[in-house]
Amino acid sequence: MNVILFGPPGVGKGTQGERLGAEAGIKHLAMGDILRAAVRDATDAGIAAKAYMDAGRLVPDELVVTMIEDCIIEDESQDFLLDGFPRNVAQAEALDRMLALHGLSIDRIVFMDAPEKSLLDRLSGRLICRACGFGFHRQYSPPSKSGFCDRCGGALYQRDDDRDDVIARRLKVYREQTAPLLDYYQHKAGFRSIDASGEMQAVYAALKEAVEG
Ligand code: AP5
Repeated sequence: MNVILFGPPGVGKGTQGERLGAEAGIKHLAMGDILRAAVRDATDAGIAAKAYMDAGRLVPDELVVTMIEDCIIEDESQDFLLDGFPRNVAQAEALDRMLALHGLSIDRIVFMDAPEKSLLDRLSGRLICRACGFGFHRQYSPPSKSGFCDRCGGALYQRDDDRDDVIARRLKVYREQTAPLLDYYQHKAGFRSIDASGEMQAVYAALKEAVEG
């Protein structure tokens, strides 16, 4: 089962994708996490991507397409869940070509959506563990001990691109460049759309049903 999750920033792709990947035994490939790791490790790709990410703009297609292809073909026998890729029509077309080349295909494409007010609330309250990357939310899923990760005890931080001005830019980029993906995907086999505005457990149940149904 190979899956694409797409939707606006803050809709819950990472939260739900990580859980689904772990429970279903498929690798969760989150493009934002892959890019942040490259920035942290100061690889050539990370150095090239950083300014775009800090500004809330899309990293150039040729960079992200190569990075995601490396992750997919690292172990072609393992199913994958893509989160945050593709993010525009050119990336979706590149993905189709790449999968055809490797004899792979996508079984489910799940579009997650929620009102902009929820997205703003979720992004501005998000906290991430510096050590293991696990996500929390100040209000909706607070850590047991303020400032520290429940899983590993690492320190929590706010992402640089979760500042109000950068969030506004990311939402604009989403509307202009990523939302058109809906037209690209909605008539393809395996397309599903879910309401991701509810609480986390309800969204997870809807996602599972969309993927399994
Ligand atoms: P990326 O890291 O992918 O950011 P994003 O798409 O903007 O998505 P987010 O990670 O912000 O949101 P999410 O949907 O995963 O929400 P989450 O589950 O964390 O990308 C960052 C940057 O990298 C981009 O801006 C771009 O520069 C670059 N980039 C990435 N991919 C690229 C590509 N393909 N091409 C070019 N550039 C690319 O949830 C958010 C918060 O809400 C959390 O605190 C969570 O606890 C909480 N929450 C989640 N669900 C619920 C719920 N149901 N109820 C209440 N709270 C909830």
